[in-house]
Amino acid sequence: MIRIRLMRAEDLPTCMLLREHAGFNQTEADWRRFMALQPDGCFVAEWEGRPVGTVTNCLFGPIGWIAMLLVHKQFRGRGIGTRLMQHAMEYLDQRGVATMRLDATPMGRPIYEKLGFVAEYGLVRLQGIASAGGQPRSVRCATSGDLGSILHLDRQVTGTDRSRLIRRLYQENPQVTRVISAPGGQLLGYITARPGMQATQIGPGVAVEADAGRALADAALAHCAGRPVFIDIPLDNRAAMRWARDRGLEQQRPFTRMRRGAAVENKPALMWASSGPEKG
Ligand SMILES: CC(C)(COP(=O)(O)OP(=O)(O)OC[C@H]1O[C@@H](n2cnc3c(N)ncnc32)[C@H](O)[C@@H]1OP(=O)(O)O)[C@@H](O)C(=O)NCCC(=O)NCCS
Repeated sequence: MIRIRLMRAEDLPTCMLLREHAGFNQTEADWRRFMALQPDGCFVAEWEGRPVGTVTNCLFGPIGWIAMLLVHKQFRGRGIGTRLMQHAMEYLDQRGVATMRLDATPMGRPIYEKLGFVAEYGLVRLQGIASAGGQPRSVRCATSGDLGSILHLDRQVTGTDRSRLIRRLYQENPQVTRVISAPGGQLLGYITARPGMQATQIGPGVAVEADAGRALADAALAHCAGRPVFIDIPLDNRAAMRWARDRGLEQQRPFTRMRRGAAVENKPALMWASSGPEKG
């Protein structure tokens, strides 16, 4: 009764409905990006011909990200979520990935544990209305000339070559990305943001020094001043958690970063904002 097939542009209304059921923040532009980044790796589950579930994959070299596991409220508890996950895992296995990763909601975590995923570390989504605070002078708008250094730094911190994602995010909203450099010119960090249905999602963003991270995060808030924002921060980044508390942001929901397969060498203490659960 369950059939899994490729996700298509015509599925966008279903995707947006399931997103709404789950209280997620993605826009149509987000779903289009998932399909553009991995056209053969985004799937829909049909129950008796009706589209009722989704899952997306994204390949970053030997690492595969699974996201957007959503099942229509009325169709939950029938094994559809598990089948979608198995399909996503088969897809990544066939491509020979060394590691599968994802950010689990408390609802998704039991499914992933049963399928062999283990917890790596916690993240928390913080939310609030962005305060103007002022644009720190050390922070400037990124140009396309900064992209090479941004991609290099992101890879050093996340242990993942996310070039495809970061380039795409930059192209979608070139005016939003901010960078900060040392007096010698060396890049210390970057941060970006994108629109969401409920709030602007700040991230991804990394910084090798806490002062640089704070300045970037403040610049991101200043850019969104007066509007609702979400930012997903690893609990291991104590400086970022302190910054969020100081700025009056409130904890909304926890995520658990999980993996199946080889460990990825990454530095959550230097991650100031995850890209969101979609791609870590
Ligand atoms: C998480 C989710 C995708 C599971 O989909 P599903 O089709 O209900 O999953 P399954 O039927 O395969 O059930 C998997 C587990 O969910 C739990 N479950 C069972 N019935 C359920 C129900 N009616 N409602 C919610 N969860 C249920 C059980 O732990 C079950 O384990 P079991 O196989 O030992 O019974 C779905 O609840 C959902 O869309 N949640 C909101 C979005 C979300 O949090 N997604 C996870 C992102 S990380």
